[in-house]
Amino acid sequence: MYKRILIATDGSDKSRKAAEEGVEFAKALGASVIALNVINEVVIASVIRQLGSDRKEVEDKLKVVGQKAVDEIKKMGEAAGIKVDPVLRIGVPANTVIDVAGAERADLIIMGSHGESGASKLLIGSVVQKVLYWATIPVLVVR
Ligand SMILES: Nc1ncnc2c1ncn2[C@@H]1O[C@H](COP(=O)(O)OP(=O)(O)O)[C@@H](O)[C@H]1O
Ligand SMILES: [Mg+2]
Repeated sequence: MYKRILIATDGSDKSRKAAEEGVEFAKALGASVIALNVINEVVIASVIRQLGSDRKEVEDKLKVVGQKAVDEIKKMGEAAGIKVDPVLRIGVPANTVIDVAGAERADLIIMGSHGESGASKLLIGSVVQKVLYWATIPVLVVR
C-alpha cells in the first residue's frame, strides 16, 4: 500500500493535527514521510513591495519559520520510529506540493482541511482545494 507519504504543513494548528495523524498512519503502514513546507513566494514579494525589505532577509526569516514546522514533524517521526525527510521550498504552495510529490515519488499526500488563513467558513482551504484538483495520487484531508 502507501510507502512514501508526503505531509504538507504550513505550521498552523490545523496542519499540526493532520501531521500527527499522518505520522500515526505512516507508522501503521510502515511508510516513510516527506515533511514539506512551502514558503509562499507571493508573500515574499508582497513583503518586499510593501515594506521595502531586503529579499534575503525576508527569505531567511521565513526559512526559520518553515524549518520549525518540518522539524516538528521530524520529531514526531522520531517518537513514532519512522523515517521523516524534511523538505523546505520557495514557491506557490499548491503547485509546489504537486511538484515535490512527483519528484519524491510520493504515493499519498496528507494535508489539513484548513491552514493558517483559518477561513473555516470555507468547506476546505484554497491550497488543499487546488491540490485535490491537480493531484494524480490519493490525497487524505484531515479535519
Ligand atoms: N505553504 C504551505 N506549505 C505546505 N503545506 C501547506 C501550505 N499552505 C497550506 N498547506 C497545507 O494545506 C492545508 C490547508 O491549508 P489552506 O488550504 O491554505 O487553508 P487556509 O485557507 O485555511 O489557510 C494545511 O493544513 C497544510 O496541510
Ligand atoms: Mg493557507
